[in-house]
Amino acid sequence: MSFEKKVTIAHLSDLHLAGGKDRQQLVRLDRLLAEFVRRGYDHLVITGDLIDSATPAHWSIVREALERHGLFDWRRTTVLPGNHDLIDLEEEMRFYNALNPADSSRQRRLNDRLRQFVEVFRPLITGEGDAGAALPFVKVMRFGEVTLSMVAVSSILSWSGSDNPLGARGNVSQETLLALMAPEVIEAIDGSFVIGLCHHAYKVYGSGVLVDQAFDWTMEFKNREEYFRVMKKLGAKLVLHGHFHRFQVYQVDELTFINGGSFRYFPERFGELTIGADGKWSHRFINLNVGR
Ligand SMILES: [Fe+2]
Ligand SMILES: [Fe+2]
Repeated sequence: MSFEKKVTIAHLSDLHLAGGKDRQQLVRLDRLLAEFVRRGYDHLVITGDLIDSATPAHWSIVREALERHGLFDWRRTTVLPGNHDLIDLEEEMRFYNALNPADSSRQRRLNDRLRQFVEVFRPLITGEGDAGAALPFVKVMRFGEVTLSMVAVSSILSWSGSDNPLGARGNVSQETLLALMAPEVIEAIDGSFVIGLCHHAYKVYGSGVLVDQAFDWTMEFKNREEYFRVMKKLGAKLVLHGHFHRFQVYQVDELTFINGGSFRYFPERFGELTIGADGKWSHRFINLNVGR
């Protein structure tokens, strides 16, 4: 297969960087990004939880790391937010305890952080300078003979003491699902290889033990079936996600879900995806430490 007839993507997830003092993780991230450049991957996808505690200044550390390796570029990298990027549990508890438990203020805080996230990563969302950047977004990219469409959504649900006590349950808004079904989107991605990107896991594997079932509930993707149906309608072949820190590939009907695991806990493991001009693709998880 010649270079023009395939495209390669590196997939990372759940970095959970804890700020500038998190030296060891930053060194590991630099090592991994350098390796991606050395291997010549065409594109990098990071499916959320870039940072650990929703402190906007910490996103800049991830941005700077991408910049150091020449990866902070619309064609080179796509990122999306996870719950740890947008929800600060301590802050939510403070508001809750101050007897200000109005749902509207939670949604507002989530929307504000999402706007800040978009500001920091704007050049990766829109290649058009100051054109409107927001989630959801669709990137149609041509690599030689392969055209890829990445359809990215925010699956972050606002915190709620009764419905989302850990801030870890996911939901894609009706507004987002409707926007993705717009004729302009369907036309723009027509004929391309479509990849869905979201943070939450379609499947959270339970053990059947009660305590695990309770844990599953706090992490579940509430309207995953609705999301799944929209991805099918858009003709997606793959969905890349994170959140549930396991490296997994699983199938739901003809749609393949790939869980990018967690860089935080496995900093030398990542997913590698190869897509051919004929629509055939392959995926493997790579361990950099193997054979050393
Ligand atoms: Fe995570
Ligand atoms: Fe998460």
